[in-house]
Amino acid sequence: MQIYLDTANINEIREAASWGILSGVTTNPSLIAREKGVDFQSTISEIATLVNGPISAETVSLDAAGMVSEGRGYAKWHPNVIVKVPSTPDGLKAVYELGKDGIRCNVTLCFNASQALFAARAGAFIISPFIGRVDDTGVDGMQLIREIVGIYRQDPEIKTKVLSASIRHPRHIIDSALAGADIATCPFKVIEQSMKHPLTDSGIEKFLADWKARQ
Ligand code: E4P
Repeated sequence: MQIYLDTANINEIREAASWGILSGVTTNPSLIAREKGVDFQSTISEIATLVNGPISAETVSLDAAGMVSEGRGYAKWHPNVIVKVPSTPDGLKAVYELGKDGIRCNVTLCFNASQALFAARAGAFIISPFIGRVDDTGVDGMQLIREIVGIYRQDPEIKTKVLSASIRHPRHIIDSALAGADIATCPFKVIEQSMKHPLTDSGIEKFLADWKARQ
């Protein structure tokens, strides 16, 4: 399973990229807005210089024509830009239209397996089920990943990648990998939490203390 970073923060992206673990980045309008005063296009272009992989940039139109027009614009920014559109009928129309121009799309805000099946049939490059937000409703988000992976794997025509989104804690990453997701897009904080272990820290401390005390 590949690891993407779910952020528009350049410092976080630079740091995680330096660890060699990043295969891509996802952004959304809220994440862009969190980086006060930054320009959308220059942020996406800068991310593309730091990470050599798909960079998702989300449309904000509600109608297909608007999404297609935004998407065509984004695709000119960098060859690695993936156009993010919502799991709506207009979103699917946009995926289908942009696909004719060879522009790849990430269908976002997916909350059930039918949305994922339709996105794949429309030609989505990535489907983004939001597992954390599903968990928030009292339903098991990981079951959604299992269902989508199950449906996609039995249809050789489907090449759409399953991306676990809305990841909230380290267990989400492990369970996404076990469920067969192709990608997990993670907040920087969750990657940091996943890497840290008190026994690693105390182990280092003990090794260093023994090293210093050696005869
Ligand atoms: C995915 O591409 C989204 O940007 C993201 O995972 C949304 O997560 P949230 O539910 O934490 O906002």
